[in-house]
Amino acid sequence: MKVTAIGTGYVGLVTGACLAEMGNHVVCLDVNAEKIRVLNAGEIPIHEPGLLEIVRRNVAAGRLQFTTDVDLAVNHGTIMFIGVGTPPDEDGSADLQYVLAAARSIGARMTDYKVIVDKSTVPVGTADKVRAAVAEELAKRGSTLAFSVVSNPEFLKEGAAVEDFMKPDRIIIGSDDEQATLFMRALYSPFTRNHDRMIVMDLRSAEFTKYAANAMLATRISFMNEMALLAEKVGADIELVRRGIGSDPRIGYSFLYAGAGYGGSCFPKDVKALVQAAQSEGIPLQVLTAVEAANERQKLLLVDKVVARFGADLSGRHFAIWGLAFKPNTDDMREAPALVILRELLRLGATVAAYDPVAMTEAKRQLGELPALSYCQSAEQALEGADALLLVTEWKEFKSPDFDVIKSALKQPVVFDGRNQYEPSLMKVLGIEHHGIGRGTA
Ligand SMILES: NC(=O)c1ccc[n+]([C@@H]2O[C@H](COP(=O)([O-])OP(=O)(O)OC[C@H]3O[C@@H](n4cnc5c(N)ncnc54)[C@H](O)[C@@H]3O)[C@@H](O)[C@H]2O)c1
Repeated sequence: MKVTAIGTGYVGLVTGACLAEMGNHVVCLDVNAEKIRVLNAGEIPIHEPGLLEIVRRNVAAGRLQFTTDVDLAVNHGTIMFIGVGTPPDEDGSADLQYVLAAARSIGARMTDYKVIVDKSTVPVGTADKVRAAVAEELAKRGSTLAFSVVSNPEFLKEGAAVEDFMKPDRIIIGSDDEQATLFMRALYSPFTRNHDRMIVMDLRSAEFTKYAANAMLATRISFMNEMALLAEKVGADIELVRRGIGSDPRIGYSFLYAGAGYGGSCFPKDVKALVQAAQSEGIPLQVLTAVEAANERQKLLLVDKVVARFGADLSGRHFAIWGLAFKPNTDDMREAPALVILRELLRLGATVAAYDPVAMTEAKRQLGELPALSYCQSAEQALEGADALLLVTEWKEFKSPDFDVIKSALKQPVVFDGRNQYEPSLMKVLGIEHHGIGRGTA
């Protein structure tokens, strides 16, 4: 099939590359000329395991192309994915300007039937707005060309995006148009060979499903973070509690890790957008409002622990930070807890040496060059002369570090373990002062 992906970010690029891998002819469009330049130079602008190989293979096979040329892109695809950003507006609601601009660019140029697919995470009712925007552009040209609008929210996880796209748990299609549904079934059939994973529903329910899924996952995290706060006070270990409750099939083990708070480009903005959308319908979402507030507090928990240990004036103190990305296997720093932790440590007068396996370029872009913050070439280098280590992102290389090196490199062996990577009892034996999250028995 001929596919166009409008927006070549985490979602658009993965979608385009994976669809090309299945034999489709894909054009990826972006307004960011630098991104397209990097892609056309044979590199990818993001860190995503397995993606570079797929991109290179499909570019070489002539099935994948990157462009800033809107005419070329609109002309190419019968299926037009819109995967542009939907950042929060000032009031937290989803800003649809990029989605609607993409829709207008299609309406203004299309010369044949298109299936326009909303892949961005968008509020309920957006498909109607997209349809209206396309129709308005067509009307300006006096055109009555047919088109369909479909909702196909994306559930990939950064860091495992290719795997998630290639082996989806489910493919949600919101459609009120049989022909468009057929196109989507055909497009996705290579991904659902084993058993049908496609769930077809009306457009509004599909749009809602994406928000509800992210809201549920964020709720689980904030719930466990609050349980961890209590566990610490009452002398229970949240890790044991997690295993205890996760074994209940009604609960399950996923997304029950207490930590330094959730971040990323999706949960914070989608929770905010859902709260805002509900507010405007006169339905205040009390649970989700609390989920967000609990997460904001959680992002500062590690600093609170540092202050409790070293005092509120951190001038003259120096800390090592391991992990900057909002989660492992990505260089995405959007809403990363590390940003909040870093800024707060610096505000309290400390200096920081940070290390992340892939996110340091992005961190430098977001934070700029700060005199009190240095970026290190290795995890070990970051430890040199620090008063304590703060583990913020659970990259694999931090899971089993050389604890002798940690002990000898730090001024005193103090570890703030923001992702509960280390066993408190082992730390005790090794003579390391360990501050985990919710490890009340330590
Ligand atoms: N990142 C994720 O893990 C993830 C997962 C599921 C859903 N989503 C949703 O998918 C959407 C995209 O997210 P993302 O992380 O890929 O964003 P991103 O910021 O990485 O990429 C968006 C891209 O769209 C481009 N763009 C904006 N307007 C454009 C236009 N008119 N024409 C062409 N390109 C345009 C931008 O330059 C940018 O490169 C969001 O709604 C997000 O919530 C993201």
